[in-house]
Amino acid sequence: MPTLGLGFIGAGRVASTLSAAWSASGESIIGAYSRSFDSSTALLARCPPARAFVSAQELVSNCDLVFVTVPDSAIEEVVNEITWRAGQFVVHCSAAGELALLRHAQTCGAQVGGFHPLQIFSDPDVAREHLAGSSVAIEATGELHTQLYRLAAQLKMTPLTLRAGARLRYHLAGNFAASCMLALLAEAANLWEECGFERDTALPALMPLSLGTLDSARRLGLAKAVSGPVSRGDTATLARHLELVAQRTEGDVLYREILARLLDLAQASHRLSEKQIAALHSVIDQI
Ligand SMILES: NC(=O)c1ccc[n+]([C@@H]2O[C@H](COP(=O)([O-])OP(=O)(O)OC[C@H]3O[C@@H](n4cnc5c(N)ncnc54)[C@H](OP(=O)(O)O)[C@@H]3O)[C@@H](O)[C@H]2O)c1
Repeated sequence: MPTLGLGFIGAGRVASTLSAAWSASGESIIGAYSRSFDSSTALLARCPPARAFVSAQELVSNCDLVFVTVPDSAIEEVVNEITWRAGQFVVHCSAAGELALLRHAQTCGAQVGGFHPLQIFSDPDVAREHLAGSSVAIEATGELHTQLYRLAAQLKMTPLTLRAGARLRYHLAGNFAASCMLALLAEAANLWEECGFERDTALPALMPLSLGTLDSARRLGLAKAVSGPVSRGDTATLARHLELVAQRTEGDVLYREILARLLDLAQASHRLSEKQIAALHSVIDQI
């Protein structure tokens, strides 16, 4: 398979991570164009001998496969300002953004696709360590599909073929699995502080518990990983939790919703008797 020259428009977190990782695996990184020259230079320091381009058009003219790694809201506008050539590959890394954002490139004869790594990219050096073993959703056809699968394999990522029309649902799943967990940890930190502890001790104390729970889910599956009062059918403790939650916030809707989902999971693990399930429902479903 011929080597492709890869380029990036938008030298942010995703571009810096992917370009460095592909460069280390032997791929040819031609360079980057970004709104600020400093961002391009920071990216290039991780993947010599790639170069910084002074315009997106110049970068595109020198690359076979271009990743448009600007924020989602800027993808379409950036793509529309460029003259693409037939046979070129143009890819965005957005989860929620449809391939229609790349329509102009397709009209010019380019093959378009999506390559969304199912991972968070905060610091490029940290993110790079998490690439191997992470999934990546690929939406493409023909030769581009083959190339994107090959590039995923270079990073030891697990490729998933995302069917057309599923992007938003896929993005929502990812949001539940990632940032939504932070909202729960923030609620835990509030309670931690109310116990009289310093707020900045909350994460060091609670995180091992969170990581232990995630590790159990990884090893045993979600249902068997459920612990706490729901898994034991401990209705008395749950009733006291709900009283407390009702006192300290405007409502207990969030906690009740979560308990209801936990009860569904606990039922799937077949640890609870019919009597325990009915008793749990009577506490959780009370309005
Ligand atoms: N962050 C994540 O966790 C994550 C995970 C998976 C997928 N994604 C997707 O990956 C893509 C990039 O996200 P990111 O987190 O890497 O974003 P980012 O860190 O904000 O980087 C975006 C880069 O694009 C540059 N830029 C903005 N507008 C531009 C324009 N008009 N022309 C050229 N460059 C422009 C920015 O400007 P400067 O040149 O001024 O720096 C910045 O360097 C998005 O589609 C996002 O949805 C992100």
